[in-house]
Amino acid sequence: MKKNQLPFLVFTLITLSFFIALEPALAQLDNEFSFQLQNIERRETQTLDGLWSTIVDPLENGFYNHRWLPKDDGYFQNKKMKHPSDLIEYDFDTDEQLMVPGDWNTQAEKLYYYEGTMWYKTEFDFNQQDNQEHYLHFGAINYEAKIYVNGTKVGEHVGGYTSFSLKVTDELIQGTNVLILKVDNKRRRDGVPTINTDWWNYGGITRSVHLVSTPKKHIYDYFIQLDAEKKDHITGWIFVKNSTKGDQINLEIPELDLVKKIDIGEDGKGSFSFKAKPEKWSPNNPKTYQVILKNGSEIIEDHIGFRTIETKGSKILLNGEAIFLKGISIHEEAPFKTGRVTSVEEVRILLQWAKELGCNYVRLAHYPHSETMVREAEKMGLMVWSEIPVYWTVLYENPDTYQNANNQLREMIARDKNRAAVVLWSIANETPIGDARLKFLSQLAAQARSMDQTRLITAALDTQTKRDGVNLIDDPLGEYVDVIGVNSYCGWYGGTPSSCKNLRWDSEYDKPVIFSEFGGGALQGLHGEENERWTEEYQSTVYRNNIEMLKNIEFLAGTSPWILMDFRSHRRHLRRIQSDFNRKGLISEQGVKKESFYIMQEYYNSIEY
Ligand code: GCU
Repeated sequence: MKKNQLPFLVFTLITLSFFIALEPALAQLDNEFSFQLQNIERRETQTLDGLWSTIVDPLENGFYNHRWLPKDDGYFQNKKMKHPSDLIEYDFDTDEQLMVPGDWNTQAEKLYYYEGTMWYKTEFDFNQQDNQEHYLHFGAINYEAKIYVNGTKVGEHVGGYTSFSLKVTDELIQGTNVLILKVDNKRRRDGVPTINTDWWNYGGITRSVHLVSTPKKHIYDYFIQLDAEKKDHITGWIFVKNSTKGDQINLEIPELDLVKKIDIGEDGKGSFSFKAKPEKWSPNNPKTYQVILKNGSEIIEDHIGFRTIETKGSKILLNGEAIFLKGISIHEEAPFKTGRVTSVEEVRILLQWAKELGCNYVRLAHYPHSETMVREAEKMGLMVWSEIPVYWTVLYENPDTYQNANNQLREMIARDKNRAAVVLWSIANETPIGDARLKFLSQLAAQARSMDQTRLITAALDTQTKRDGVNLIDDPLGEYVDVIGVNSYCGWYGGTPSSCKNLRWDSEYDKPVIFSEFGGGALQGLHGEENERWTEEYQSTVYRNNIEMLKNIEFLAGTSPWILMDFRSHRRHLRRIQSDFNRKGLISEQGVKKESFYIMQEYYNSIEY
């Protein structure tokens, strides 16, 4: 503990009594790991990407009748006229089309601002095979989806940025199958995120869709990481569906000459922990190993890195060595075309810019980015801060909101738990101090820890106390995270740019602090005096002075300025300057670097690894 003990001890006693009272609630932690059909790209898949037929349905007429009751014969029935007198007032096949994956806002001028229901329909051929299971896997759909196969509802999902799978073995038919989705991106006060955000509400099937086929008995999920405690052991588990007593799965790591037989229990799960001395993954050496899982003829291959991440006082230790996280924040906005990122090429452009900046870490804000983004970051030696969109003023008193956030947290962890690059799970961004918020977030932190002890928990905070001219990091949430993120915009939302170099910080916590956001806006190519808002010179002055401020924070363990590239936001109207873009990027959305890019690059290049 850094500061005088008494106030903190009193505070601790009060907080402890508060949580003792909550004990029953905390005891309701959902320890059932959220299994996920792991590693789609290495399975037998049929892509369903491409042009889908669509119907824009702002009044949800395809789902509700005129009494606002769900219809039995909604658009998901894909009805066709059989007789010339039939009355059917929709037809997917003569309506518009949209590309999947992709947001609809940037695909058609009339959909730029559209928030509501969009029906999607595609058809695919299927050849029935015996003794197989079949799943539909969706990379992400923003925001709420209902999914129908051949007119039968097979599932629904809430949350715009996490992947999920639905078993459809029983609903598929030989030959042509019809897949219809009701996608609704309306913002909801009780949603996660809630009704206001500083990013564009891109709606649609924004990541890829696959039909995945597996043997009847199949490896569904697995968790394989270096043990956080016994650092010379590879530990984890495998989950097999339709397993039978006595099943065994082979786990092989050829480069380590390891072949292990994993006994699978009656619950389908088999745990393991065995000695190993793998070369550690790190930004300078993003080493991954071919890991092969064998279930009879089913072979699942992955490439997994092994590393440890922990804290010691105000230091972050990667593989036991203190490391400074030289980062940048990134939204999932595509360079050049803008809209949601949909291709590995766009992912590589963004991450290559981060590498050029001198980064060893990327803060993927404010929601889980695509699996492709995380896997490419891992290959390129970039540590990842991955975050769920518990952003600003979600309804902390609402149990359904909590469950939604909890589901998105579990889905985020379930998808990327084998990615060594992911070192930080972030549970929130800029959430207002309050008892309900503290309970909501401390439970999420506990949930994340109960699922994954191999990563650090963090959150980006924007509430500090001014004491004797010093900014004091004393948000009570600091008690529940391993690493404290601080968002602070000296020179942009307060103070003059030149005042920032004299700003001093202190912390109530003996924990690492990452400046998860700082910066300011500039229209690329606009030049003028340093005191002229929106010029590159103004932004450069903000950066120069904030960097001087950072150099005086001895408990600083990293930073990820806001933001790599300009991105679209409903909050940024100023014509000729913003035109619906947040201009805090170091690079314009057309890929042109601003002066501040080079200022930040020089700072990072001056920092030892
Ligand atoms: C906040 C917030 C970002 C936002 C940024 C800004 O810190 O976390 O989502 O875009 O400030 O105001 O530009």
